[in-house]
Amino acid sequence: MTELSHLHRFVSASEPGKPPILLLHGTGGDEDDLLPLGRAVAPGSALLSPRGKVLENGMSRFFRRLAEGVFDEVDLRHRANELADFVAEAQETYGIDPPIGVGFSNGANIAAALLLLRPEALSGAALLRAMVPLSEPPVADLQDKPVLILSGAADPIVPAANAGRLAKLLASAGAGVEHRTLPVGHGLSQPDVLITKEWIGRRSVASGSR
Ligand code: MLT
Repeated sequence: MTELSHLHRFVSASEPGKPPILLLHGTGGDEDDLLPLGRAVAPGSALLSPRGKVLENGMSRFFRRLAEGVFDEVDLRHRANELADFVAEAQETYGIDPPIGVGFSNGANIAAALLLLRPEALSGAALLRAMVPLSEPPVADLQDKPVLILSGAADPIVPAANAGRLAKLLASAGAGVEHRTLPVGHGLSQPDVLITKEWIGRRSVASGSR
């Protein structure tokens, strides 16, 4: 594994012209967790999968929280910037374009924060069970960034109104948002995989693979 600022896995692209993917795991996951999901939703793409640097009772996360769904926003801003710097380092090291973020739960929340705070880090994002990450989000320019939000109608962690606010927030910043609510809970389901795969399949690499 190449030494960069986050422990991570990198899988090279096996097909040209496929967008690179940044995989962001949920609470308690690690850099290996979402590799199978990445292969399923983006076959042939390069996969970049970092491990979150924060530990909560031994479980890795991408930023600190004060309670479930209540975020330490100072830490969140710091960690989002740190992660964006890692993505830039990885782009340089591995010769990839800005990736599409594919995040689940805590990983979806840091991906949403990346879009708002460091939009250059991602070419788009699939946010699986995401919430509004910041109470006072900056005015971001997300023109032309495609965003998929998949929510669960029976999700006990993410209230439907919160996911709806996230969709509006990103759309008002110019992102092309597709928000779907599935008849599932917080966990990932087969429809998440199929919809995300189809959505990524519609993304073309604007500047081609380097
Ligand atoms: C978070 O902390 O990002 C959300 O509560 C989701 C979770 O990780 O459980």
